[in-house]
Parts: sequence; C-alpha cells; structure tokens
Amino acid sequence: MEEKITISVIKADVGGLCGHTEAPEELLDVCDCILEEAVDEILIDYYVTRCGDDINLIMTHKLGVDNEKVHGLAWRAFEEATKVAKELKLYGAGQDLLAEAFSGNVRGMGPGCAEMEFVERPSEPVIVFCCDKTDPSAFNLPLYKIFADPFNTAGLVYDKSMIGGFKFDVLDIIDNKQVTLKAPEESYQLLALIGNLEKYCIKRVYRAKDNEIAAVVSSEKLNLIAGKYIGKDDPVAIVRAQSGMPAVGEILEPFANPHLVPGWMRGSHWGPLMPVSEDDARPTRFDGPPRIMALGFQLSNGRLIGPNDLFDDVAFKRAREKALKMADMIRSMGPFQPHRLPETMLEYTTVPEIMKELKGRFVEVEKKK
Ligand code: 13P
Ligand code: 13P
Ligand code: MG
Ligand code: MG
Repeated sequence: MEEKITISVIKADVGGLCGHTEAPEELLDVCDCILEEAVDEILIDYYVTRCGDDINLIMTHKLGVDNEKVHGLAWRAFEEATKVAKELKLYGAGQDLLAEAFSGNVRGMGPGCAEMEFVERPSEPVIVFCCDKTDPSAFNLPLYKIFADPFNTAGLVYDKSMIGGFKFDVLDIIDNKQVTLKAPEESYQLLALIGNLEKYCIKRVYRAKDNEIAAVVSSEKLNLIAGKYIGKDDPVAIVRAQSGMPAVGEILEPFANPHLVPGWMRGSHWGPLMPVSEDDARPTRFDGPPRIMALGFQLSNGRLIGPNDLFDDVAFKRAREKALKMADMIRSMGPFQPHRLPETMLEYTTVPEIMKELKGRFVEVEKKK
C-alpha cells in the first residue's frame, strides 16, 4: 500500500498587537522554533503564518489525523507563544487556549483544526485558506460553488473524474449531528441546509466516484461545544486542486465576488469577506472587514513547496474594492439588523441583562376584542 501523508493546519489566537488586529512576529518566532525542533521526529515540514490575530501552523507528517504527538506539538507552540504574549501584555493573551492542560488532541480545547490524510499524487497542489473575524460557516457558500456549481467550476462539466459530483459532510452545530449529502443529485437539499449559517456548517468534501478527500474546514470546535454558543472560531480550510479536483483558479473564483459572513466587530456583525495577501491580513477597520488569505503549496513527498500567496494578484483588486463598498453600505446600519447578527449568533450581547432590568417595566398590551 502506498504511504499516506497528512496535512494538519492547527490555529489559535493567543494575543494581538494591538487589540485584535495582528499576531506579532515575536509569537510567530516562538512557534517557528518549536516546530523546527520537531522536524524529522514528528513533522516532515511546516510553515507558520498568521491571519490577523490568529496564528496558523501548517504541518505535514505521516502520523494521520487527530494524532496526539502532532496536536501536542501545536498545543506546546501555542502555550509557549502565550507566555510571550503575557510578558508583552498583548491583547487577549491565551484567548483560544480554553483548557488548562493538553489531553490527547486539540479538538474542543480552543484551537481550530483542519486535517486530511491522502496518498500524494504525482503532483499534489493544495490551497490553505486562513481567515480572521469570521466563523467556519463562511466556507459554506464558496465550497458549494467550488464543488457543486458548474457556472463556477468548469471541470464539473469537462473533467470526467468530477462529472460524478462531490459529497458534503454537513454539521448541525446546534443539535450536534452530521449528515452527508451528494451534489448534484441532492444539491437543493444541500442548499436548504448550508444556506442557514446559524445552524449548518460544511466539514468535509469528498469526490463521489472514489471518496477521495477534497476539502476540510476547521469546524469541530463549534460542533463539540454545540448547544452553547461560545463565540467565533476564525476558521482555516484545506482544499486539494487539479488532476480530477477543481483547478486552482476554480477554487479561488468564488472569492472574486465577496459574500457576507458572520463575525467582524465583536464577532457580532455581518460583513463582506475580503480576499487579501498575507501582508494585508491585518484587519483594522471596525476590526475588519473579515479577511481570507489563500496560500498555495505543492507537496513533494510531504515537503511544503511554496507558498504562493494566491490573493496577491491584481485580479482580486476589484473584489477588495467591492468588499469595501459593501462594508460602507452595511456599516451605515450601525446596531440595526441586518448589520447586527441575530440574537443566537451574537458573540457579545447585553440583551439578556437589559431584559432583566426592564422585566418589571413591560406591560401587557390589550388585545383588540
Ligand atoms: P488539470 O486537468 O491538470 O487539473 O487541468 C485543469 C486546468 O488547470 C485548467 O485550468
Ligand atoms: P477575534 O475573534 O479575532 O479575537 O476578534 C474578536 C473581536 O472582538 C473583534 O472585534
Ligand atoms: Mg483576538
Ligand atoms: Mg481572530
């Protein structure tokens, strides 16, 4: 049997400079040192980056998904970075390390995680998407377009490996359940669910003809803590490209037309998802607007060749301008919906306290006879 490679992207916000805008170099350096020491023993290769105040550890290895050594390594990197963040009194130092101590894997402990294991193809292009100021449901619309919409992905029509369609694992983050739906046959049922960003979130996508893994999103944390809303989890996703998967340009195409996602200021507003380069992933306007960056790698026996900073292209300039126009438009609504998120999705809210204070002041309104 051919040997499998795993790509694991584990991310956490352990402190910002200043406020929630950016994870500084000092924190990335700490993570870099810790991952460097683990090359050969645990990892094949790694790349450390940040999107806004979230640090992303992109790692390759042969240990499979949910591996204790790999997750323990990421946890240790975030713990050490938190020490520095505390020393520097960075904002929200240790924000995403919810557990006191590491126990097996990072799922449910605070960090977000997207991982996939596969036999490396003769040429294996992968794209790692990293976001800030939004949550994993931000990927519902683009993943639908990439893997189920032939007006976006020409390969669904022209490549015979894809003509059988793709399967989507969809998480119900409120009732903690999962369902698998297949496009194109069940694309209307799929849309009926994933169009509801309050409740449903795509977790994985597989190619239908052979169940080959195609995409994965860091959405377990919300699932594991289902029932109780604990705030936004700035997500990451991994998508495989070319040779029987959508082409790189088909994977990037949905982001040329920005869509509205939950997040932004205080994790409590709808805002446009702006595609940016690594250098521009520093959200400042009203702590946003929400950002997404796309790093393209070629794997070579697990080595990460790259990255190519894929949104650093003039072709995405108009998407950024459009996102800013959408930002102006929706910002003018201030605390009114639809800029403000519905009650169940708010990360910050004073509404329950206001309701308690006002309880005695509400009077029954007489019904018309
Ligand atoms: P592949 O068949 O190599 O995936 O080529 C498709 C392509 O890149 C067209 O843009
Ligand atoms: P983060 O989720 O990126 O830490 O942002 C929190 C926030 O409140 C932004 O206004
Ligand atoms: Mg933060
Ligand atoms: Mg963040």
